[in-house]
Amino acid sequence: MPSRTKIAVLQTGTLQDQEVCVRGWVRTKRDSKNLSFINLNDGSDQSGIQIIVDANSEAHAATVEVHTGAAVEVIGILVASPGKGQKFEIQATGLRLYGNASGEDYPLQKKGHTLEFLREIAHLRPRTNTFGCVFRVRNGIAYAIHKFFQERGFLYVHTPILTVSDAEGAGEMFRVTSMDLDQLPKDSEGHTDFSKDFFGRPVNLTVSGQLNVETFACALSDVYTFGPTFRAENSNTSRHLAEFWMVEPEMAFYDLQDNATLAEEFLKYLIAYCLEHHSEDLAFLQRFYNKELLKTLEHIVQSNFQQVTYTEAVSILEKSGQSFEFPVKWGVDLQSEHERFLCDQHFKSPVVVVDYPREIKAFYMRLNDDEKTVAAMDVLFPKLGEVIGGSQREERYDVLEQRLQKAGAEEQDYWWYLDLRRYGTAPHSGFGLGFERFVQFVTGMGNIRDVIPFPRVPHNASF
Ligand code: 4AD
Ligand code: MG
Repeated sequence: MPSRTKIAVLQTGTLQDQEVCVRGWVRTKRDSKNLSFINLNDGSDQSGIQIIVDANSEAHAATVEVHTGAAVEVIGILVASPGKGQKFEIQATGLRLYGNASGEDYPLQKKGHTLEFLREIAHLRPRTNTFGCVFRVRNGIAYAIHKFFQERGFLYVHTPILTVSDAEGAGEMFRVTSMDLDQLPKDSEGHTDFSKDFFGRPVNLTVSGQLNVETFACALSDVYTFGPTFRAENSNTSRHLAEFWMVEPEMAFYDLQDNATLAEEFLKYLIAYCLEHHSEDLAFLQRFYNKELLKTLEHIVQSNFQQVTYTEAVSILEKSGQSFEFPVKWGVDLQSEHERFLCDQHFKSPVVVVDYPREIKAFYMRLNDDEKTVAAMDVLFPKLGEVIGGSQREERYDVLEQRLQKAGAEEQDYWWYLDLRRYGTAPHSGFGLGFERFVQFVTGMGNIRDVIPFPRVPHNASF
């Protein structure tokens, strides 16, 4: 008996006219008088493969039982298909049923389901065409991220998930405790006594690996972290998750311009990788979700990202004559409607906005000579808005200490971060790519909840 081959491998044709073994899940089954047709999918490609079962063959008796959703093994001959839309099919000689799906109550019937409905059955949605495509592309992007950095001599650093510092200073953290919330120990002032907690102090889930990864950049030069991050911001939008993955490279001896150059090269590399390796999946997603998808992706690869200062961006927005829901003036943070105007209408390409007001950015960003702005950069993508946030880091001890104080941070939580500026300090920069935002852009999916296996959002952490 031949060993199992993945369907994607069969589609290359190297095993034509040979006996093969496939295993997977039945997408559809259709019976005619003399033949049964099964579309079998094992997740390795979008189309799956057609199985033909002759009514007189030994395989047929077992086939009669098989319902949509069943897990089966098929042995048969791989032959060129006379049918339209597929190169190969399998003429079954044997079929083994691992586990049937019980007919009508199987939630994934043939008809198209809405994405909202599929979120409610997130444990089964990987079996649909759409989610097969999305998660193959997601995997491809993750692989290309490592490939990009490894080819350039960056080291992958695993930063901790549990932290005591608030890297973004935004106070949007989830507390982690092993104390009994119904019987919290109190100190003499009536506050919760964290010295009795597991770590002996308050601990949170990380909002970013940046501060930790900076310690490695200041020793090993070029590094990156790529892991889950958590934000307790109450944003119920199509672009926010409470748990998402972030890719954070950090480079010693890079200034803001070096940082922006790397970010542009990185994003183009990832998109070019997907266009080359995921054309079948992207074509499917374009057909059903975004008619402009391939054009948009190709445009990004060929474009030159435009760079403007925050001050210039605000003046473009003020002169635009648009009536924004959130009015703009110097000093306010850019909202996604502003970001989209800059990308979609004004520049018609990705935009890098640099030098934001110090008041609206995190304490670690390097203060510019004007003392009003910091060396920050946000990369904005058409339709999506911010996909990357980054900066040159404040490497001057005194300036950083002052900014920490202004931010109201506890200096004892950041002593080691300050030490980097005390011993062998050097200019360095980095950025964070929101992984799901980027997967959303590449797949053309409208909602970020459809590009992560199990989305966590306010009031929902099912599965
Ligand atoms: O701009 P942010 O907050 O930057 C940082 O965390 C820096 N420490 C990164 C660095 O310099 N190393 O977040 C980075 C990116 C955003 O541009 C956005 O794409 C994404 O993370 N992001 C989110 N994605 C999904 N859901 C959320 N709630 C997100 N918040 C930020
Ligand atoms: Mg940001």
